Amino acid sequence: MERLRMGMIGGGPGSFIGPIHRIAAELDRKIELVSGVFSSDAQRSRQGGESYGINPARTYGDLGQMLAAEKARPDGMDFVTIVTPNHHHLPAAKAALEAGVPVMSDKPATATLAEAKVLAGIVQKAGLPYGLTHTYTGYPLVREAKARIATGALGTIRKLVVEYPQGWLAGDASGKQAEWRVDPARSGEGGCIGDIGTHAFQLAEFVTGLKVTELLADLGIVVPGRQLDDDVSILLRFENGARGVLLASQIEVGELNGLRIRVYGDKGGLSWKQEEPNNLTIHSIDGRTEIVRAGDASLGPWAAAASRTPGGHPEGYLEAFANLYRDFAALLQGGEAPLLPGIADGVRGMAFISTAVAASRARSGWVPLQI
Ligand SMILES: NC(=O)c1ccc[n+]([C@@H]2O[C@H](COP(=O)([O-])OP(=O)(O)OC[C@H]3O[C@@H](n4cnc5c(N)ncnc54)[C@H](O)[C@@H]3O)[C@@H](O)[C@H]2O)c1
Repeated sequence: MERLRMGMIGGGPGSFIGPIHRIAAELDRKIELVSGVFSSDAQRSRQGGESYGINPARTYGDLGQMLAAEKARPDGMDFVTIVTPNHHHLPAAKAALEAGVPVMSDKPATATLAEAKVLAGIVQKAGLPYGLTHTYTGYPLVREAKARIATGALGTIRKLVVEYPQGWLAGDASGKQAEWRVDPARSGEGGCIGDIGTHAFQLAEFVTGLKVTELLADLGIVVPGRQLDDDVSILLRFENGARGVLLASQIEVGELNGLRIRVYGDKGGLSWKQEEPNNLTIHSIDGRTEIVRAGDASLGPWAAAASRTPGGHPEGYLEAFANLYRDFAALLQGGEAPLLPGIADGVRGMAFISTAVAASRARSGWVPLQI
């Protein structure tokens, strides 16, 4: 079967996530990177195209040019993936969708909640697929955790703890990845909360199937001179009354990508860590503990379908991303992708950021999640 043709927006020389998207999208040979506007600078965009080894005629200096030229080709791109800093997500997605091109976007969906609502309207009007790469939902054992909770393995959910500690912004923030993340004009309303707090928030709702209804936020700007939060502590209340704690930080020296989620119900508990993603621990109230491993024969269909290697041959971040692309390819081919985050997750993520930033600043205490 012919591969789906992907155009990339962002992901130029020295960027982090663009090359990861390229590897992940191509892993299953259902998708191929064919074109791109890899930088806002035409020269750097050309260098980006060279680094990916695509046809130089299909590397563009701006998005309008790419959309027009690709549309005119019989082998033009089938969708775009957006991997620019956050402030460019809405303009890029709007231009693509209004030109009839489906969109896969990295998170957060936009820079502000108002923008996310605008984008939701555009997605609805276009009637085209829109996927959001909340990477952690692509891990087999995260999908298994969701499946087990949905079938009642933990009973009624009563408590959740989700944390995402990092330490890379504890000091200087002048590197390529760092400098836009601490700039409100390019990062948006949130700093750490937008960058990694949204992953934790989305993971909590994804795994439990429960929506957050209220929160109490304390967002710190710890490094002097910074304008956006770099340390986040939030209490959550879910729609069924369950309580939650969400911690995210980029100033916890020594921490890398320690995303971890624990969920407790009245029959059991479970725990999963991103840095050791191939084990899921499940406790029963009668004292038994089960370690579920990626590739186990006991896994449900979601997790089984998300693994490419037998147990003991570890998979990780790239494969989790690839699972989201496989889901997106299914959508483009007219199928279903019930586990792929979309614009509704994007709007909720932006509402989470916006509510928490405002409530923390005003020291408002408990507030409803405002969409
Ligand atoms: N899902 C995840 O796990 C994950 C991880 C990292 C980053 N991200 C998200 O990915 C996005 C990019 O992050 P990054 O760390 O790769 O940033 P980066 O700074 O490393 O790369 C951004 C790239 O976008 C390009 N760019 C900027 N403006 C552009 C424009 N107008 N047109 C075309 N290209 C443009 C830059 O030249 C650069 O090549 C962010 O939204 C971030 O939140 C997601």
